[in-house]
Amino acid sequence: MVKDPTKYFVLVAVAYLVLGGILGVLMMFSWMGGGWKGWDYYLIPTHTHVMLLGWVSMTMFGVAYRMFPAVLVRRLYSIRLAWVHFWVANVALVGLAFFFWLNRLQEGGWVVPLAVSGVLQFFGILIFAYNILRTALLPLPGEMG
Ligand code: HEM
Repeated sequence: MVKDPTKYFVLVAVAYLVLGGILGVLMMFSWMGGGWKGWDYYLIPTHTHVMLLGWVSMTMFGVAYRMFPAVLVRRLYSIRLAWVHFWVANVALVGLAFFFWLNRLQEGGWVVPLAVSGVLQFFGILIFAYNILRTALLPLPGEMG
């Protein structure tokens, strides 16, 4: 029996919220001068995506995997595919978080790994969309014939 990933999406979402909050506080420190001066610029895209792809999107993915089948009175097309999405989305977000920061800190030079992380994140979004649309629109395996 494959475990439902909803709880794990929500758990990582809360972790990203805390991490995003720490980055936000660090960015405010940079306004007080000293060694942190200018760090808000280095951290903005990382903070933005940890909060929006981490806290917001991971919560929505987790809730959607439980809520959409419930609303549609159907089972999810593939729990295994939801787990593939979970790992792709998190590996890609860790990549985006680091390479957004390094790419600003070192004024470029990390565009390729940043782009690979971004494309991987988008691939995760496509896996999610496919799983939900298959659940909503097409007969599920075992329902045919
Ligand atoms: C496949 C997923 C995504 C990719 C590849 C991506 C990529 C990017 C890139 C390349 C930038 C410019 C960063 C810079 O100026 O250095 C950016 C900025 C931004 N993105 Fe995304 N993004 C993604 C998903 C999202 C999502 C889901 C949201 C919101 C729900 C979001 C909100 C933003 C915002 C608000 C900014 C502006 C940040 C700033 O003020 O500089 N992004 N994104």
